[in-house]
Amino acid sequence: MIEVINTSKEMSRVSDNIKKSGKNISFVPTMGALHRGHLSLISKAKKSGDAVIVSIFVNPTQFGPKEDFAKYPRNLKKDLALLKPFAPLIVFAPSAKNIYPNDFGTFVDVEDLSCKLCGEFRPGHFKGVATVVLKLFNIVKPDFAFFGKKDYQQQLLIKKMAKDLNLNIKIVTCPTIREKDGLALSSRNAYLSPVERKSASLIYKALKTAKKMAKSKNAEKIISFIKRFLAASPLIKVEYASIVKKANGAAQILIAVKIGSTRLIDNILI
Ligand code: PAJ
Repeated sequence: MIEVINTSKEMSRVSDNIKKSGKNISFVPTMGALHRGHLSLISKAKKSGDAVIVSIFVNPTQFGPKEDFAKYPRNLKKDLALLKPFAPLIVFAPSAKNIYPNDFGTFVDVEDLSCKLCGEFRPGHFKGVATVVLKLFNIVKPDFAFFGKKDYQQQLLIKKMAKDLNLNIKIVTCPTIREKDGLALSSRNAYLSPVERKSASLIYKALKTAKKMAKSKNAEKIISFIKRFLAASPLIKVEYASIVKKANGAAQILIAVKIGSTRLIDNILI
């Protein structure tokens, strides 16, 4: 059975009961318009044997005033049909008013990390993400929460928030699910026209070639290669391409592009 819950109060009550029964809760937050990327997180959560809760909430506070909040795809019926194979499952689908009542006024800012990369081009975005995810955590009370590597900066931000604010939740990052031609699945891919969709496949091709170059070339050369490679398509405008060093000595290339008005992101380990 798939149980759909629409209010925070009811969700909290159900979560309390699950905990009382001695079960752990695994949580997958989403904005709906579900695809195989989302389903891979749910599948991983299900494998834990815990009670699994999926939230579907298009969070207004993480969209800028000129962004796609109004046109973001919403189809709860279709989403529930896609979730059916994962039953038993709890879906938390609150209204915006339920999450943000009129007198709402407290926000979470993961300083530094929220201003860089995507944060530079989407001011306020990560403040909205951190705020809604902390709220969802407090309502759902998960032991584990699953995030996709596709949104690399987002999962870093959530891990940092969990550490900084002593959240007793294990954040699990899952691999990026791609189309056959390499394009990372995203709810926003639906905005692309057929020609735009074709050029979008260049993003991962650029990252894969860059990964090969990384053995012999320095960061500057790799980034300028990616920009030149993508300049081959007049439809693609690179917002940023950047190499982020990791604590373990490895590095990640992160990229954001605009194709028409559609913003797409991707990343690869090098
Ligand atoms: P949304 O874009 O719906 O993504 C929900 C989760 O699915 C995120 O953790 C995201 O990284 C993951 N995901 C998306 N595409 C994926 C892919 N191709 N492969 C693997 N995982 C993928 O990210 C959000 O929603 C929101 O910011 C949210 C965290 C729900 C807060 O509002």
